[in-house]
Amino acid sequence: MSDRADNPLLNGLPLLHDLPDLDGASVLVRVDFNVPLRLCADEPPSVTDDFRIRAALPTLNYLLDRGAEVTACTHLGRPEGAPDARWDLGPVREELSRLAPQVELLENLRFDPGEVQNDAGFVEKLISGHDAYVNDAFGVSHRSHASVVGPPTRLPSAAGFLLQHEIEALGALLGSPARPFVAVVGGAKVAEKLGVLKALLHRVDSLVVGGGMAFTFLAAAGHDVGDSLVDRDRLDDCRALLASGRSILLPRDIVALEPGAAFGCDCSGGEVRTLGDDIPDGWQGLDIGPVTIEEYASEIGTAGTVLWNGPMGVFEDSRFCAGTAGVARAVAECAGYTVVGGGDSAAAVDELGLEDRISFISTGGGASLELLEHGDLAGLAALRGAPNAPAVAEGPRPGPPRR
Ligand code: 3PG
Ligand code: MG
Repeated sequence: MSDRADNPLLNGLPLLHDLPDLDGASVLVRVDFNVPLRLCADEPPSVTDDFRIRAALPTLNYLLDRGAEVTACTHLGRPEGAPDARWDLGPVREELSRLAPQVELLENLRFDPGEVQNDAGFVEKLISGHDAYVNDAFGVSHRSHASVVGPPTRLPSAAGFLLQHEIEALGALLGSPARPFVAVVGGAKVAEKLGVLKALLHRVDSLVVGGGMAFTFLAAAGHDVGDSLVDRDRLDDCRALLASGRSILLPRDIVALEPGAAFGCDCSGGEVRTLGDDIPDGWQGLDIGPVTIEEYASEIGTAGTVLWNGPMGVFEDSRFCAGTAGVARAVAECAGYTVVGGGDSAAAVDELGLEDRISFISTGGGASLELLEHGDLAGLAALRGAPNAPAVAEGPRPGPPRR
């Protein structure tokens, strides 16, 4: 474990033991319980993976054991600043009441527009009645949202154990990672990941692309992508990355679903075909194919360091989970230092029972990528400004990683 002296991210960061006496204190804890939900017709929504909830327990229990009254707060999904039944915290609350019955949980933070807007009035409302604040929400610490950056300006504050462990483990990727350093990036949100992909490209020896975002890259490379998910506004960005001369691996074969057929949890029906890297009109590419899995696995197998973020396909649909499972197994088998980030990738590792074979599983997707891009996070910077923060020591400060 790194300590404050040698990890720039920890320099000046208040930790749990820097909080004033907790006995009888009311502590507001920002957690990231933005967990995957099973949303199928005919049954109430349920939490499919409680990893992020379990990951916050050491901090919650630490505070409870010291006599604090603990109020947790989280977002769930992306409701647009108003109550939205789809993102009700009911299923999360149920899970939490099993794991930590004494902890109170506030309403979904994003039901109030003040959360995303970092509104001062909303910060005021959040901290009211609390004596201290803890950020244990690594997964959202890249967002300058009210609950992440507001309370440390007002209350004695600290990074929780989860946040601390995340920056210790990810800090290792910012220093001198063992080579070759292979980043495997998937998921659907290409627009969100572009900045990070650009930065990663200079840090890694090869960038392996899968998931929904791969189709924007394939389209940029001149392939037909049928009805697959493509972000037309990002084609030029993807073209520029592909022209950078760095090693970028794209799928060579695709598992696709026939025109008009539905996919997702509990879906069936419609023809599924393994195609090359050109997809006919109307077909939707939903997973990487077997040739690609093998190629990606062998790239991962030789790595000294692997960062994997984002699923390779629609893995909640069993017809399109092979790519994600194949990558998960390859990462587990890799002898190097392996870091998995992102709720979906972590859930896949968990479902396959591979957790013990991964060096570190991050609770953050976007946050872990942003940390690698910028070398710091808004939530960490806010904590360093808290009234109880330790003095910043001589030595390296957080900031963009060395190239
Ligand atoms: C996540 O799941 O990536 C975090 O909870 C952040 O969610 P967001 O991307 O909706 O801000
Ligand atoms: Mg995310």
